[in-house]
Amino acid sequence: MAADADARIVGVIGASGQGKGVWLKGVVIDEAPTRVVVWDFMDEYGDTLAKLGGKRRAVASMSSLEAVRQAMVKAGEGPLMVRYVPRGAGNKALQREFEGLCELVYAWGACTFVAEELANVTTPSWAPAAWRKMTTSGRHRLVRIYGVTQSPALVDKSFLGNCTLVHCCALREHAHRVAVARAMDIPDSEIASLVKFEFIEKDFETGQVTRASVKPPGKKR
Ligand SMILES: Nc1ncnc2c1ncn2[C@@H]1O[C@H](COP(=O)(O)OP(=O)(O)OP(=O)(O)O)[C@@H](O)[C@H]1O
Ligand SMILES: [Mg+2]
Repeated sequence: MAADADARIVGVIGASGQGKGVWLKGVVIDEAPTRVVVWDFMDEYGDTLAKLGGKRRAVASMSSLEAVRQAMVKAGEGPLMVRYVPRGAGNKALQREFEGLCELVYAWGACTFVAEELANVTTPSWAPAAWRKMTTSGRHRLVRIYGVTQSPALVDKSFLGNCTLVHCCALREHAHRVAVARAMDIPDSEIASLVKFEFIEKDFETGQVTRASVKPPGKKR
């Protein structure tokens, strides 16, 4: 598989309720991928995928990795939407499930992968090997990654450093602001000054930093 100039790694960051989900769901709907996998920790992407599929009904969730594997085998290189809602109780069980899903996504390739709340499934010093491979050489598997977190100081250290775009909403804790400001190479006061639903974005391919507000749900971005 050749590298895709369009493959991207996007970090979607911000405290709870700051508009990360609203922004990301709008982006996914605009991009309209035909192959998409969501680690849907909060069971909230049914309507988004239903919109992509043009169906009225929310896309049913899967909670078995074997079901995901079989669906991927059946789809081959064709279209498929997977919405995986983890069942695991406790961090270790969740991490194992995430690891399993990452391995399937890496093997399947050529898709959009949305991972909600990375702080539950990675730590500053640990991430599943398949996640690390995708965030360091995901371009070679054509995987477009959206990694979401409220707690950037607590996620896999190499993730932020490998993002091609960082989208950062307001963060309350200093440690989190500093982690993102460092990755974006901007003063942390820029992040401290964000108000609700406002964000700063850095595109590492152009070096451009922009500041804007997320539109209320249902409005065009
Ligand atoms: N621009 C906006 N104006 C008004 N309400 C908004 C706007 N953007 C988002 N909201 C509302 O704010 C709430 C939180 O937004 P959202 O779900 O995107 O937060 P989040 O950052 O994903 O939070 P969490 O980390 O808890 O998942 C939602 O009810 C959403 O409808
Ligand atoms: Mg959210």
